[in-house]
Parts: sequence; C-alpha cells; structure tokens
Amino acid sequence: MALKKSADSFSKSLVEEVQKWGGMKQTGVNLRYMMDFGKNPTQRNLLVSSQFLHRELAVRIARRVIDLECLPFGLSSKPAVLKVRDWYLDSFRDLRVFPEIKDADDEIAFTKMIKLIKVRHNNVVPAMAMGVKQLKKDLYPGNFSSDPQEIHEFLDRFYMSRIGIRMLIGQHVALHDPNPEPGCIGHINTKMSPMLVAQNASEDARAICLREYGSAPDVNIYGDSHFTFPYVPSHLHLMVFELVKNSLRAVQERFMNSDRAEPCIRIIVADGIEDVTIKISDEGGGIRRSGLPNIFTYLYSTAEKLEYDDVLHGGADDGVSMAGYGYGLPVSRLYARYFGGDLQIISMEGYGTDAYLHLSRLGDSQEPLP
Ligand SMILES: Nc1ncnc2c1ncn2[C@@H]1O[C@H](COP(=O)(O)OP(=O)(O)O)[C@@H](O)[C@H]1O
Ligand SMILES: [Mg+2]
Repeated sequence: MALKKSADSFSKSLVEEVQKWGGMKQTGVNLRYMMDFGKNPTQRNLLVSSQFLHRELAVRIARRVIDLECLPFGLSSKPAVLKVRDWYLDSFRDLRVFPEIKDADDEIAFTKMIKLIKVRHNNVVPAMAMGVKQLKKDLYPGNFSSDPQEIHEFLDRFYMSRIGIRMLIGQHVALHDPNPEPGCIGHINTKMSPMLVAQNASEDARAICLREYGSAPDVNIYGDSHFTFPYVPSHLHLMVFELVKNSLRAVQERFMNSDRAEPCIRIIVADGIEDVTIKISDEGGGIRRSGLPNIFTYLYSTAEKLEYDDVLHGGADDGVSMAGYGYGLPVSRLYARYFGGDLQIISMEGYGTDAYLHLSRLGDSQEPLP
C-alpha cells in the first residue's frame, strides 16, 4: 500500500503496521453474547473486554484504512476522504502505541482513549458523503446518477464496519456506568418496548416536521404496549426516526396545498417468534417503480440538497433536518442488518408507502464483518 498525500506525515513503520493488522482476522460478537458478557461488569470482565478491544479495534480500523486507500475513480484522493483516512490512521496509532493492559488503572486509561476515538469519528458519515458528492460531480456533471456499484458496496462495508466499531466501544464504555437503568446492559435494554421507542422516535420526527412545514400529520402506533425484547434502543430509535421522517415528508408534500385533511401515518408493531416487525405506512403517494432501485443508494434524495461543506470544521447540521442527505434508508437498513434484521420498502405509486423493518428477536445472528 502506498499511502499518499497527507500520509507523508505518517511514518513508514506505521504504514507497515496497518498492512499487517489489516490482514488479521476479525472477531465478531452478537447481541446475545454482549448481553451475557455484560451482565457481570466486574473488574475482571472489564479487563478482559479491554484486552479484546485493544486488538480487535486495531484490526478493524486497519482494514478500513486499507479500504479507504484503494477506492476506484480517484475517490481515495478527495480531500474529505483523505481527512477520514487520517482519522482512522490516528486512531490506529493510538491503539498501537497503547501498552499492554494489565490492571484496572490501564483499563481506565484505555477506556478514556477509546472514548476519544469514538468522538474523533463522529463526523465520518457527512465527511464521506462530501467526498462522494464531489466524485459524482466529476463523474456525472449536471445530472444525477446512482452510485457506481463499487462505491455503493464500499460505503455499505464501510458504514457497517463503523456501526460495529461504535457498538463495541459504546458498549465497553457504558458498562462502566455505576447506576445503569433497570434492565439495561450497556447500550442493550433487555426489556425494550418497541412501541415506546417507536413513539419517542415519531415524536422527534414530528417535531422537526412541525418546525419545517408548520404542521405535522399524526402518527398512530398499534401493537402490544407490554411487549418487550432485548435490543439496542438507540439503533431502533434511529431507524424509526428516519422512516417516519420520510413518511411525514411524503404526506406533507402531497397534502400541503390540498383541502383534504392529512391522513395519519400508521405504525404496526408485530411480535413474532423469530422477528419483531415494525411496519410504517403512509399515504404520501408512494415512490415510482422506476425510482425504487435508487432509494437505497447513498446520496439519492429527492429533497433539496444539503451542503456538507461545514462538516469538516464541526459546524455540520447534526442530521436533524427532514431530508436531503439521502442516507436515511441505506443507513437504516445497515442498522437493521447489523443485528440480523432487514428493511424493505414497498410502494404503491399514487397511494403510499409501506416500510417493513424486521428485527431479529433471537440476538444470535453473526455480526457482519466487512
Ligand atoms: N415514505 C416515502 N414516501 C415517498 N418517497 C419516499 C419515502 N421514503 C423514501 N422516499 C424517497 O426515497 C428518497 C431517499 O430517502 P432517504 O434515504 O431517507 O433520503 P432523504 O430522506 O434524505 O432524501 C427520498 O428522497 C424520497 O424520494
Ligand atoms: Mg430520509
């Protein structure tokens, strides 16, 4: 690997380390394992967990550095992508210079360090989006085209890996909480009510809709309010939030200038044996069949484009606008797949859209390791 451009500031030995670590095998975890392990966050378990992460994070991050180096169409040398690559290299170096973790003090210091890594990578998604957008402008000046397949696959891999890395770090850090919420093991709520999470996410989405349009359709949720299962509420919140935002926008755009009352959005939560399925239905007019292949494309959006130019300087929109990045659907699908679920969109043009969000109840599906 020939690290280019700003990597001149990185030493040759670091580059060789990246090569070596990037070739090592990744070790997956799943929801059930994280739950069992985190049940007893004893000093000893935290030590074991940090020793695991010390190696595992270096392996996963090194892979991403290599991936970022080998992108087609010159994407690797876009300034925003180089910036992202440097964040990954910095984090890799932080992990590698950290000495062997032997006792509780080392463990505390390590936890502090990986917390900072997580913060360093906060803006990776908009920064990559900026790089891809720039590339698309070069490749297809003037008109939209879907992502080239290689780029799409890279982004899927890259973001899936990011979800995993952030889950591992977040979980380890959260296990230090001396007073966890009842039923919570790190970020996992063993008694998560999908209805409650769906309700909170819908309210958050409606608040943004109200701000941007001055009104918001109702969202009605149907299901067993006592039903719970183990899951990560922040992941479910993110997915439902994105889907409800899409539905609210579609309904608003369709009924804004009409005399008819806005039809409500309906969410149904079904608790099966294998899956919990959440269906989000709207009467926002649906999506053209010819447009369907694009909706899971990164950057595909029919909303006014937002600018990413601030993201590298920390002044970014924090994702709390109705639409425009074109990341809502592909990223939500990755979150669903991360724990063995999936997301499907069924549209009836001229009427509305149904989004089916499947979450695996068993928690034992193998972690996707791109
Ligand atoms: N419920 C829906 N009704 C109509 N169109 C939708 C719906 N959900 C998604 N879409 C279409 O898919 C596109 C991509 O959605 P998304 O990935 O969430 O990005 P964004 O919302 O930023 O545009 C939207 O711009 C819209 O054209
Ligand atoms: Mg959206």
